[in-house]
Amino acid sequence: MNLFEQQANEFAGRHIGPSEKETADMLKTIGLKSLDELIDRTIPVSIRSKKKLNISGPQSEHQYLTSLRQVAALNKVFKSYIGQGYYDTIVPSVILRNVFENPGWYTQYTPYQAEISQGRLESLLNFQTMVSDLTALPLANASLLDEGTAAAEAMTMFFNGKNRDHEHVTTPKFFVDNNVFAQTKDILLTRAQPIGIELVTGDFRKVRLDESYFGAIVQYPNSNGAIHDYRAFIKQAHEAGAYVAMATDLLSLTLLTPPGELGADVAIGSTQRFGVPMGFGGPHAAFFTAKDDFKRNIPGRIIGVSIDAQGNRALRMALQTREQHIKREKATSNICTAQALLANMSAMYAVYHGPEGLTRIAKRVSLLTRTLASELKTLGFDNNNENYFDTIQLSVQDAAVIRSTAEARGMNFHYTGNTVSITLDETTTQEDVINILSVFGHAANTDLVSATFDMDDRLANIPSSVTRTSEFLTHPVFNTYHSETKMMRYLRSLEVKDLSLNTSMISLGSCTMKLNAATELIPVSWPEFGGLHPFAPVDQWKGYRQILTELENWLSEITGFAATSLQPNSGANGEYAGLMTIRAYHAANNGAHRDVMLIPISAHGTNPASAVMAGMKVVVVKSDDDGHIDVTDLKEKAIQYKDQLAGLMVTYPSTHGVFEESIKEICQVIHDNGGLVYMDGANMNAQVGLTSPGLIGADVCHLNLHKTFAIPHGGGGPGMGPICVNEKLKPYLPGHVHSADMELRAASNGKAAFGPQGHAVSAAPFGSASILLISYAYIKMLGAEGVTNATRYAILNANYMKARLEKNYKILYSGANGTCAHEFIVDLRPFKASAGIEAEDVAKRLMDYGFHAPTLSFPVPGTIMIEPTESEDKAELDRFCDALLSIYKEIQAIEEGKADKNDNALKNAPHTQHVICADEWKHAYSRNQAAFPLPYVKNSKFWPSIARVNNTFGDRNLICTCEPVSSYAEEAVAN
Ligand SMILES: Cc1ncc(COP(=O)(O)O)c(C=O)c1O
Repeated sequence: MNLFEQQANEFAGRHIGPSEKETADMLKTIGLKSLDELIDRTIPVSIRSKKKLNISGPQSEHQYLTSLRQVAALNKVFKSYIGQGYYDTIVPSVILRNVFENPGWYTQYTPYQAEISQGRLESLLNFQTMVSDLTALPLANASLLDEGTAAAEAMTMFFNGKNRDHEHVTTPKFFVDNNVFAQTKDILLTRAQPIGIELVTGDFRKVRLDESYFGAIVQYPNSNGAIHDYRAFIKQAHEAGAYVAMATDLLSLTLLTPPGELGADVAIGSTQRFGVPMGFGGPHAAFFTAKDDFKRNIPGRIIGVSIDAQGNRALRMALQTREQHIKREKATSNICTAQALLANMSAMYAVYHGPEGLTRIAKRVSLLTRTLASELKTLGFDNNNENYFDTIQLSVQDAAVIRSTAEARGMNFHYTGNTVSITLDETTTQEDVINILSVFGHAANTDLVSATFDMDDRLANIPSSVTRTSEFLTHPVFNTYHSETKMMRYLRSLEVKDLSLNTSMISLGSCTMKLNAATELIPVSWPEFGGLHPFAPVDQWKGYRQILTELENWLSEITGFAATSLQPNSGANGEYAGLMTIRAYHAANNGAHRDVMLIPISAHGTNPASAVMAGMKVVVVKSDDDGHIDVTDLKEKAIQYKDQLAGLMVTYPSTHGVFEESIKEICQVIHDNGGLVYMDGANMNAQVGLTSPGLIGADVCHLNLHKTFAIPHGGGGPGMGPICVNEKLKPYLPGHVHSADMELRAASNGKAAFGPQGHAVSAAPFGSASILLISYAYIKMLGAEGVTNATRYAILNANYMKARLEKNYKILYSGANGTCAHEFIVDLRPFKASAGIEAEDVAKRLMDYGFHAPTLSFPVPGTIMIEPTESEDKAELDRFCDALLSIYKEIQAIEEGKADKNDNALKNAPHTQHVICADEWKHAYSRNQAAFPLPYVKNSKFWPSIARVNNTFGDRNLICTCEPVSSYAEEAVAN
């Protein structure tokens, strides 16, 4: 390699942990001579890829950023007045720098380990309080993928609520008001079809709901910008036994009577305009609030208040027994990864501005909108909306004329036939209003436009019948941190409570917590990518087009498939989208009745949950004693259901971390019996460049870009779950109401199957488009060889750790030659009998050693699953192994009676600073052993901020918003 080639290749050395020397040492520990030998022993020869990947790169970080600047310049950032759920916003710099661009926040994992996650849990509780207060509904989650899918979740929750206890669907209809956002209607259509819901679209003022309806949805303010009082409609729906969801806008709710006070059962929407860039569609956090009755059925993650082992206040994820990882096909939804980082950002926006700041922003936006409406009237353009917040709608003679003038002046409006809607936002200035007026002045043949900005903020455009009178965001957290100094310190105080990748490795099996390189992330903040509206005209996003096309091609190449859809915005949403392609394929090939999906017992809970959402029946396939799919059972079931077989969902390498030799045979059995194979791509980090789903024989897969392709986990999202398909399934990829194929859809009368003429799975055509840049950068900077080496090193790191640990721990499952794939399972069950120690005790004790626990009790209860990824070097792997080996000694001491069975460092873990420094210490082991069990811990001690959390207490007393100040006062008195 010459000096220039070396420069182009240098990112691989930044991304992959072990050096050459370390690699040699590690191989020696494993007992092998070369990395090639390890890979040959690990991946069955029958599925090994023989050709180098055809992808471009590598590029150095500097080269990449330089060339990306040119691509970014192809995007045109117009002033966006399109609205329809996406608004320009001002991201407060303190939040941009300290949250969005801060690895202390964006590299966090989902807060399953509450003791080292109190910072983000507090922030997410703030999020829930914010949406609960603004919508005036008591129950909130944190958070959902986007507004459209949140609407679909409401529909499904209502459907199940009304139909679950009956043998048949008794109330199949769901009413959708005409003026719900088009993309939301599109997703509702997608999601209604497979589970037998009949969507009825119409005017809420005219419809008469009867007992055949289980629910309804209206938009507030609606897609035209009009504000309606829905009280009578909601009353009517309730009288008919139907529930009502209101899709709504949080900023407007600072001024409007909230949904809860109008009687709605559920409110949903997006929190994007609370300081999260539009990003050409995302990522943004959707919200979902509900009446208390829906406690057990609400989808998504709920943060709740509980106590820790010391009786102190402790936050954690509540009511998890509702979720797919427990309930599988009976789950309330398949939501897993959502949008935690963006939920945090929007919550912090509310914390920073406070109720008064938010109200001021809302009033400013509305006042500018009112001024615009009245000045347009003088130009001869009447607003169709009598009552409105931030959007006016005009019927014009020729929208094309308005459009060409507006676009020539760098402005985008929203057009439907000859109506034009204009939505203002937080960034709109008085000058912007004059510029908008000048477009209409031009159409009216006058260059003389002016505006009088009446500073009377009584806002006559909002009727008194729906003017908000109730208080909101009264909790101190929303009324304290309004200076930058205070905000900066508040953010930092939360950040340091959480263990993220900038502390130590997070070896979560099945989650691939690899490096999220700064160069990959920096462009996400560039305005050329962040400032685009997802429905902007095609010629304004040529830069995005170039990136998205290249990325689609690379992902197709990597998976060995023919085409890719970048729309699904999480792994589970990818599962759903992929299963819908299978469903559509069967329907188009006389197989509409094919609805049985075989799913191995070891599958991730989202698999069966997604299958049910796609209208399929789940049949479970057993595992054999080695953890492999029981091929005999699979064959029997495939044959038994051959006339109804839709397919198989399989994770590869398996969730047990093994490349099953029988995979080709398994795929063949499914194909022979008329089914198709869906491959869950969560474990793609063990495949890239060495084998592929296409080679294995699958028909479709999703990729978790937030695992294999370097998008950070963000404390529980964002994520992206694109799907890749073979030629057979290519015609059935998701469509979108706002994409170029709109005419095609219109021609098909909206009745087409899922496919190019079909319907969307996400609110935006390319899902959370802006974070696709991260995966794009990852592939481009590593190139074909780099991504393949990443896989090889992921396998090396796992096998090295396995080799170091297997002397003391039992490792469950390995491949034919004794190696594991990129992850492995450590069996902790024997310690229950020998020492009374459970997997949870080990997980919590790891915190005292400064580590996040590996994946706990998935896929096998009583175990931990370790996935180190390629990004960790030998020293970090050794530290982690040393910690586990030291814990083993602590367990041995209990087994040998040298340590107490109940009062030991594992059972009492984790140890907080408060506990260690307390005057009283009653334990049989020392403070030093508790807090500094190995020398390296002394160099950089990470303190868990609470002692072990009490889960049952919190579930029995569900509190999912910030408690009233009085509860703190009581606590203070008690102390
Ligand atoms: C094997 C497997 N499948 C599917 C998923 C779901 O992906 P997501 O969380 O992005 O929805 C996960 C998530 O951890 C997983 O591990």
